[in-house]
Amino acid sequence: MIFVNFKTYEAGTGENVYSLVEALEQVSGESGVKIIPVVQAADVKEVAAESILETWVQTIDPVTYGAHTGAILPEAVFEDGAVGVFINHSENKCVSHDNVAQRVARATEVGLKSLVFADNLSEMRDLLQFNPTYIAYEPSELIGRSDVSVATAQPEIIASAFELSKWAGVPLIVGAGVHSREDVRTCLELGAVGVAVARDVMMSADPKQEILDLTEGFK
Ligand code: G3P
Repeated sequence: MIFVNFKTYEAGTGENVYSLVEALEQVSGESGVKIIPVVQAADVKEVAAESILETWVQTIDPVTYGAHTGAILPEAVFEDGAVGVFINHSENKCVSHDNVAQRVARATEVGLKSLVFADNLSEMRDLLQFNPTYIAYEPSELIGRSDVSVATAQPEIIASAFELSKWAGVPLIVGAGVHSREDVRTCLELGAVGVAVARDVMMSADPKQEILDLTEGFK
């Protein structure tokens, strides 16, 4: 599986969202690889309604119905059609591990899958106890890089991350700088079930071609 994180890239905002989701849908259909658009909460309702792809959101807040101005209510995005949610991404870090636990619990409560990000192995060990649907190893210093990736720079750490995830029974996703079919292949060979990508697709003049190339890593 490939999680494509739209972040707040221009290519993943407003009207641009639809052509990108269509391209992801085509590539998923052609390759047979599961591709998950991870969109801004503002876009999830329309994307989920129009696309056959499983649509995720980039965050929720650990709140319930009530007075929480500006918060993203888990019930609201679930009702809009979101299937899952990112938690503790390094660009939107939770204030504490308790806060991660609360978000995973709220996601589970309303029926959302969860992917919890860890920046390093020690954080991963701590966060696995919350039993998310997926755990991601994503070293923040390699996010957005196109000259190096987690796969080329840290294969030994990916292998250790896999051991931890296997021990906890939580499937591993790997991200940070992933930009080629070789990167994808390495992550899978080291035990990951999928990758998380952003820049390689979101900043490309031909996003469809980029994502198609990444799916080749599954062959
Ligand atoms: O959520 C995945 C994302 O943070 C990876 O970003 O730009 O390194 O592919 P990027």
